[in-house]
Amino acid sequence: MTVAYPRKFKNSLGAREILRQVVSDREIHLITLNRYRYSEQRSCKDLTSVIEALDGRCPELLKDLSHHVSDEARHAMWLTDLLVELGAAVGKPPGISYVDKFEELLDTQAKNVEKNLDDVLISTIAAINVTEKRGCEYFSAHIYALKQAPQTPENVKIRETIERIFPEEAGHVRWGNRWLAQIADKSPSHRQQVEQAKRKYAAIEQAAFESGMDITLGAELRRVEKLLDVAKTMPLWERPQYLMEHLPQALVAPELQMSRVNIAQRAWNRDPKAFMERFVPMFLNLNTNSAKANKKPN
Ligand SMILES: [Fe+2]
Ligand SMILES: [Fe+2]
Repeated sequence: MTVAYPRKFKNSLGAREILRQVVSDREIHLITLNRYRYSEQRSCKDLTSVIEALDGRCPELLKDLSHHVSDEARHAMWLTDLLVELGAAVGKPPGISYVDKFEELLDTQAKNVEKNLDDVLISTIAAINVTEKRGCEYFSAHIYALKQAPQTPENVKIRETIERIFPEEAGHVRWGNRWLAQIADKSPSHRQQVEQAKRKYAAIEQAAFESGMDITLGAELRRVEKLLDVAKTMPLWERPQYLMEHLPQALVAPELQMSRVNIAQRAWNRDPKAFMERFVPMFLNLNTNSAKANKKPN
């Protein structure tokens, strides 16, 4: 069976490298923890929507999902307690939200739960599964980074909180794998559907993840490439509608512009000299490089 693991960002920055830098800067560290808090809290709402949509069908799954909501609520509670104790912000995190981006990229074709229960189960569980895998990858890298970092009381507290959450997230990944394997065992066509859903949601998740990190110039074009990657995992007849729905957002991307402004302001406020020396050239170089790349003959 396909095992779709999250890929590295632009095949270069791994989770461990990113987290090493995050942990070394208190402001970014606290923003990252608040992003985790936000995602955990939001997943309670999303899982509850799935429970409501199922409306009593598949009681075994409903039971599991209600336990899942309780786990995610506990994670959000632990992270909120931690952030409040550290005096950090607990509002909506700045910049592009991974969760919002993921939802925006989901295939919005309404599926009739009554007629296509298996369809709905497969896509729902595959979508949950791929985001849980990303969570595990980041939590494990975060714990690793905190073990290498100075053992301040604050860092120790943060590590202990993430160490409590991580095994439960790994349990959620195993839970999703079990359900998908059970559905795939029903028939060859179920197996095919499960494999296709895994590829599709892995591509959607990758696109959502990268758009949250990719704020450099040229990001809009790379987002279109990602949309094409997602479309390629779908049957031919579903592709045009998906692209028509999502292309305008990828190209205009107002939240991308806001993120750029937000990050530029943050960098400027912290260190104007470094901003001019490092931040500005970083954008300009990327722009020149992508212009050069675009000029290359095929
Ligand atoms: Fe969680
Ligand atoms: Fe989870």
